[in-house]
Amino acid sequence: MNSDNDIVMNADGAAKLGFPMWPQFAPETAEAIAEPIRSGKVNYWTGKKGMEFERQFARWEQVKNAISCTNGTAALHIALSSLGIGPGDEVIVPSYSFIASSFSIVQAGAVPVFADVTTDHTLDPHQLESLLSERTRAIVVVHLYGVVADMDPIMAFAKKHDLYVIEDCAQCVGGMYKGKKVGTVGDAGCFSFCQSKHFTTGGEGGMVVTDDDDLAWECRSFRDHGYDVQERLNLLAMEEKLNYVHNRVGFNYRMTEIQSIIGLNELKRFDSWNLKRRREYAKIYDDAFTALKGIKALPVNTTDRMNAYWWYPIRLDLDVLTIDAPAFVKTLAASGIPCYGIQWPEAYEEKAYKDLNGFGRVKFPFKSKEYTDAESVKYGTRQCRTAKSLRKETLNLFLHPTWEIEHIQRCIDAVKKILQKNYK
Ligand SMILES: Cc1ncc(COP(=O)(O)O)c(C=O)c1O
Repeated sequence: MNSDNDIVMNADGAAKLGFPMWPQFAPETAEAIAEPIRSGKVNYWTGKKGMEFERQFARWEQVKNAISCTNGTAALHIALSSLGIGPGDEVIVPSYSFIASSFSIVQAGAVPVFADVTTDHTLDPHQLESLLSERTRAIVVVHLYGVVADMDPIMAFAKKHDLYVIEDCAQCVGGMYKGKKVGTVGDAGCFSFCQSKHFTTGGEGGMVVTDDDDLAWECRSFRDHGYDVQERLNLLAMEEKLNYVHNRVGFNYRMTEIQSIIGLNELKRFDSWNLKRRREYAKIYDDAFTALKGIKALPVNTTDRMNAYWWYPIRLDLDVLTIDAPAFVKTLAASGIPCYGIQWPEAYEEKAYKDLNGFGRVKFPFKSKEYTDAESVKYGTRQCRTAKSLRKETLNLFLHPTWEIEHIQRCIDAVKKILQKNYK
């Protein structure tokens, strides 16, 4: 990552530039999180807020089950493993995403197979056929930057080939696909509440959602040491002594009460303030940039694919400009505007993949013949051309809800000024 970008992206950097920092928390939160400290009920099983956050999130997401957890990577790991995906399996995932979209597949013991994206930054469904093998079990779809992927062709392909679909909604809280919240279109949806995300549960946090009750119990168990959580809840209700009942191998990915309280308060104001402002600001950007010379494409937002606007990715028209996106971002940052280039377009370029640096001495699962085919892990020869090409074209602006219209306007003015100066 470019250090200029780091400076303008983090909260301190933005504040130094005169932009309100992100994140900020609901005013009642500071007092509310003192309660578990006072009572000592700080853990998912001792307090009641964890389950309440799950209930409220499920209600907001219009889904039957929500399972809270420590972070978005854990959410993906829980969903994949609870769907039975593991050693010997392959999962198709875009190469263009944060590393956790594919690392979670390896954490589950399976092997990621990297797909390219279309120029809207989301998975290209036309790629799927060529990536299918006997081992393919699932597709991870990433709604990058808040842009909602076109789910129908992906779902149709998955149905035809009996594959699971996991939606990585870490950057897309509140996006809608054809009237459904993202995360509820596939078999499971995974959210992140990390520091920079749509909202944070105090620095880290995650959630899995699913309409499948059996899968939800499996997720709760996997999150909780493989415990028979259903049984545990029954025993708690009867106030009986807890037995040890570990039905499967699991992890401890439980969220704390403090995180859940923060999440509840952010969820309360999400639609009416957070998402509302993001969408208002996106509309202001849209109006300012549509049909402007030097801008090739704005983020997809239609009634079928309603964007949640984590970031606002703009594709520059390099045919009419003398600079590319990385140079544009540098200039924009130097003029005091928080901005960013592209996120990681080619995960297969990471050393972990190139060197097949998996777990333990045997580099599981990459070098264990019984768990993968050598051809499937030839990451060094993989090329996702569209993802790669987007690096040169893409500039990202922010639209944090703590900002006011004047901050959005500052970004617009600065972008226009740089465009003006750099026409061919
Ligand atoms: C697309 C995507 N997936 C997964 C994750 C992982 O979430 P977390 O950082 O909460 O583990 C992130 C976080 O940045 C992300 O952007």
